[in-house]
Amino acid sequence: MKGIILAGGKGSRLYPMTKAVSKPIIPIYDKPMVYYPLTVLLKAGIREIMLITAPADVESYRRLLGDGSQFGVQIEYGIQYVARGIADAFLIAEEFIGNDRCCLVLGDNLFNGAQLDELLARAVARKEGATVFGYPVKDPRAFGVVEFDAEGNVLSIEEKPQNPKSRYAVPGLYFYDENAVSLAKTLQPSARGELEITGLNEEYLKRGKLHVELMTRGMAWLDTGTPAGMLNAAQYVEAVQTRQGMYIACPEETAWHKGFISDADMRRIGSELKMTEYGQYLLDLVEDE
Ligand code: G1P
Repeated sequence: MKGIILAGGKGSRLYPMTKAVSKPIIPIYDKPMVYYPLTVLLKAGIREIMLITAPADVESYRRLLGDGSQFGVQIEYGIQYVARGIADAFLIAEEFIGNDRCCLVLGDNLFNGAQLDELLARAVARKEGATVFGYPVKDPRAFGVVEFDAEGNVLSIEEKPQNPKSRYAVPGLYFYDENAVSLAKTLQPSARGELEITGLNEEYLKRGKLHVELMTRGMAWLDTGTPAGMLNAAQYVEAVQTRQGMYIACPEETAWHKGFISDADMRRIGSELKMTEYGQYLLDLVEDE
């Protein structure tokens, strides 16, 4: 299965913070925002990743993530010349995806919780159709909204509805079978001029192939779309990390748990960063084993 991180978009809701840098480069507490979705892909066991971003930002991501070898994975870069919407990622990544299944995660979505590994494993195991997630929020109007019956069958999925049919927002994490590219090609731009990911999900729904997994109580899906949302997310990460002494979204740690990198790799990366808490954390992980 291939992984795509979409770090495109203009981030205009965060201007002037995002005027000179791509939004997912901005830190959430102690690490760049993109580390959070990257770690989700690693947790899902995905080792072939394409990060899609605007031409001006490719170099920054390359400096940050390189070719992925520090995490024992392959990262390549796709360029989105015009911010044409989320589903555009499938047109940009067509060759990269080939005939494979893929997981798309948005560069500014942050997930955490004990349920995450199990949800990812279930989505990865599903060979056919698409999997989206449902996350209860107080006001879902700013998101994709999914409606489903008691058996978990999806009844509808709508983008930013004025009158939501449920309180379940759809987070920016999606799993698709090998038909995503060909279905994405049939989409027409929406009223806001974008190829909507919700449109792609509707295509799967029409074919009876859209599954929803619910994120339950205690799972965190945090919004980084506004300055206050970013601060809340940073405070959440700080509170949990400081209390438990365990990091949220440390890609090296996940890569090491998965066996993508070795003890020796961890010691080397940790030593290079040993003047930081982050480096010390990596070193402690191998020593405490
Ligand atoms: C996008 C999607 C929306 C989804 C959200 C998750 O919204 O269109 O369906 O719920 O991401 O972050 P946008 O960021 O384009 O407003």
